[in-house]
Amino acid sequence: MSKISYRESHKYAEKGAEYEAYYQTRAWQRFLWSREQEIILIILEKYFADRDIHLLDFACGTGRITGLLENRVKTSTSIDVSGSMLAIAREKLKRTEIIEADITAENVLKPKKFNLITAFRFFLNAEPELRTAAIKALVELLAEDGYFVFNNHQNFGSPWIKLMHMRHRQKNPQGAFNIMSIRQMKKLVEGVGLEIVDIYPVGFFHPPKVPVSYRLNRAIDSVACRFKFLNRFSESPIAVCRRRKNQNSNASASRK
Ligand SMILES: C[S@@+](CC[C@H](N)C(=O)[O-])C[C@H]1O[C@@H](n2cnc3c(N)ncnc32)[C@H](O)[C@@H]1O
Repeated sequence: MSKISYRESHKYAEKGAEYEAYYQTRAWQRFLWSREQEIILIILEKYFADRDIHLLDFACGTGRITGLLENRVKTSTSIDVSGSMLAIAREKLKRTEIIEADITAENVLKPKKFNLITAFRFFLNAEPELRTAAIKALVELLAEDGYFVFNNHQNFGSPWIKLMHMRHRQKNPQGAFNIMSIRQMKKLVEGVGLEIVDIYPVGFFHPPKVPVSYRLNRAIDSVACRFKFLNRFSESPIAVCRRRKNQNSNASASRK
């Protein structure tokens, strides 16, 4: 039996409601989301102070990321292929243009440009062909001075993800347990002429089956994120990317 493409995976009728519940009921997910919100707001302050933001939230799902941002941006657009996920997004979002389409098949947003493109919880699970098609379509929509912000919610550098990956392979060698390293994140964006300018770590302490309190997790994250070298051990890092500066002009500038 052939494996279902990630494009199809969120299309069944109940998926939107299931995804919402997942975020509302799971302690670890709620903790990650609280950290992600803080970090996204830090990114706005650092990269967009005094600038109008034109947001595209790619693979927006139920509108988690768009919902945080829509009142903080000048224009807001969200896109996804799943009607079931978008039905929930439509209930939440008030000033966002919501589009059901697959820009990897036909880039219906061209020739628009966005100076902030977000893509959360997408690239890890997208199969290689979809990853490449999506990043290529997105870079065509990114303004020259824009930023692309994405996350990797199962970073291979995280000791807990390594452990879960190992256990999964022992128990279910045929099953899928996707992982992505920071090196793969870099490679993905470098392939389309972008570079990662910042990585924000999210989620350090996630021993499987051991409940850890929200407060303890926050305390651990707030200490660990002060040390850049620990980034690679976090479970769900967020990367900020921009167009790579022209290397020739850099080289000639440094010769002057
Ligand atoms: C795990 S959800 C993430 C939703 C949201 N970004 C979040 O972080 O809560 C992944 C989403 O990717 C969407 N997706 C898969 N293939 C896609 C494609 N080719 N174009 C747009 N969205 C796609 C799925 O329909 C699903 O809603």
